[in-house]
Amino acid sequence: MSTGTRDAKRVTTHTLQEMKSKGVPIAMLTAYDYSLARLVDAAGIDVILVGDSASNVMAGHETTLPITLDQMIYHASSAVRGVHRALVVVDLPFGTYQGNTKGALNSAIRIMKESGAHAVKLEGGREVLGSIERILTAGIPVMGHLGLTPQSIYKFGTYVVRAKEEAEAQRLREDAKLLEKAGCFALVLEKIPAQLAAEVAASVAIPVIGIGAGAGVDGQVLVLHDMLGINQEFNPRFLRRYADLHGVITQAVASYVTDVRSQSFPNADEQY
Ligand code: KIV
Repeated sequence: MSTGTRDAKRVTTHTLQEMKSKGVPIAMLTAYDYSLARLVDAAGIDVILVGDSASNVMAGHETTLPITLDQMIYHASSAVRGVHRALVVVDLPFGTYQGNTKGALNSAIRIMKESGAHAVKLEGGREVLGSIERILTAGIPVMGHLGLTPQSIYKFGTYVVRAKEEAEAQRLREDAKLLEKAGCFALVLEKIPAQLAAEVAASVAIPVIGIGAGAGVDGQVLVLHDMLGINQEFNPRFLRRYADLHGVITQAVASYVTDVRSQSFPNADEQY
């Protein structure tokens, strides 16, 4: 975490609330390490999410379930060291907050104490309300996450769009209200119909950040490695690619291999 003087213009939960009030869209991306968090922060992002998508992106797991609290703290503390402006939010990993409010509080406290992050995020609605309320008692800001919640993938069975049916949509509307009432400072809505997301964003006073939830919300979040085009296999409709780092990196490494083999690297200027 940076020092007090450099924190003068730091984004806080209040900044995000003001942005919603003024109609200024919030830009959020994931980052899991020092170097990329530093770049993303310097480029002007408002919120950095140390997501449990690190389980997929950084560790190559099929789901977000295996990542541990210690691993999340490692990623979060690395990212925090690169950030001077953005609000850093850290996912509570699967199994560290469900069904045990004291355990949830302890997990959130460990993240805040050991990483220097500014807030936590957790997945779910009414079923995790007790955990959210308990974490909030310690003064830890909580971001909610509804819609497609990847930690429940084995309950859903697939990663398809959620809340298309009215019963699930109604439950989501109610959960958004419950999370707001409990004191969450913001909400992520993942992969739900754009119309429903816009309705929810208009119905709550807290900022609503969407991923695959259309343009009618208060901000957008993407997984950094996806929007940079590092991962070519993941192609959901909602993903816009802003770079082709797969091509850039592959080309750079291939050129390096060629230069090493041909002994054109290092040249006379590149040695002592
Ligand atoms: O872990 C993550 O990257 C997330 C985003 C998809 C919102 O939760």
